[in-house]
Amino acid sequence: APRIFSGIQPSGNLHLGNYLGALKRFVDKQNEGTFETVYCMVDMHAITVWQNPADLKHSTRELCAGFIASGIDPEKSILINQSQVPEHAQLAWVFNCVARMGWMGRMTQWKDKAGKNAEAASLGLFAYPALMAADILVYHATHVPVGEDQKQHLELTRDIAIKFNNDFGVDFFPVTEPVIEGAATRVMSLRDGTKKMSKSDPSDASRINLTDDADTIAKKIRKAKTDPDALPSEAAGLAERPDARNLVNIYAGLSDQTVDQALAEVGGMQFGAFKPKLAELAVERLAPISTEMSRLMDDTAEIDRILARGALRAREITAPILRQTYDIIGMVGA
Ligand code: TYM
Repeated sequence: APRIFSGIQPSGNLHLGNYLGALKRFVDKQNEGTFETVYCMVDMHAITVWQNPADLKHSTRELCAGFIASGIDPEKSILINQSQVPEHAQLAWVFNCVARMGWMGRMTQWKDKAGKNAEAASLGLFAYPALMAADILVYHATHVPVGEDQKQHLELTRDIAIKFNNDFGVDFFPVTEPVIEGAATRVMSLRDGTKKMSKSDPSDASRINLTDDADTIAKKIRKAKTDPDALPSEAAGLAERPDARNLVNIYAGLSDQTVDQALAEVGGMQFGAFKPKLAELAVERLAPISTEMSRLMDDTAEIDRILARGALRAREITAPILRQTYDIIGMVGA
């Protein structure tokens, strides 16, 4: 079967953007049955900026709980923590030697995160996309579901696969397809519809966390930024209305509809009526996840067992692919 790989960083809270752009679609792909699915907590990516060690352990386990509470079944999917499958880091070193400095320097995420003081950024932050390419290609994964913000990294993954194949005259690594689909591939801040919803936004009101309780979710939606007009009846009517568009995209994402289908239902409504409807839907979909996450977090030993088993299953795939890679590039003993 063709294989899917995707990952999420265990750095801080999961939010609605992670859920609609990634997690929910991971679950859909798992249940579709077309693909073998591998999902990963990328703790080695998280440490490209400093993480408090105790918090990193907690966030990794909580992320694992978030995957399971959202519907990832560790029997159907391979669920892993990156550092427990050492072939990711090993292949990343090879890719560090395939990728070019110039490619990395053009990554917008690098430019955003390193800011003006690139000299003080970690070397790992610069090399981040080579590790991401290794995550994917160490499984020979062909499809990668992500939100829109990961598109450039996936193009680089393709460039690395192509260059490796050319450099060594092989047809070994697949050229991966990004899977960016659905109504909510870019969920925006509830306080500013031109900014991405993100875990690093200092305002907690800008995002809905998967750990928020029902009252908090409803309150954040009630306070979300809007404009004074009624909702249009077609998606084109949202073009110049970023805040309205964001709330409609969220509604469509949560109700498994396209934006036009959602507008057929809610077009013409004023925000005074639409917001409670959206809040009700969000609570209905998200509150059970939050409850299940905290239940799972009561037994972290079970979470650790799941991750240990996932790593064993993963290594049945990754060890042979790494060995073949080493052989292709001329390492003795492979
Ligand atoms: P991360 O941890 O920032 O985000 C995890 C996933 O959530 C999506 N996402 C969003 N989608 C819609 N709207 C938003 N506001 C929003 N914010 C985040 C992201 O697009 C992503 O799909 N580099 C990756 C992690 C990674 C990875 C990989 C992904 C490491 N190796 C290999 C795929 C394949 C990252 O930092 O995602």
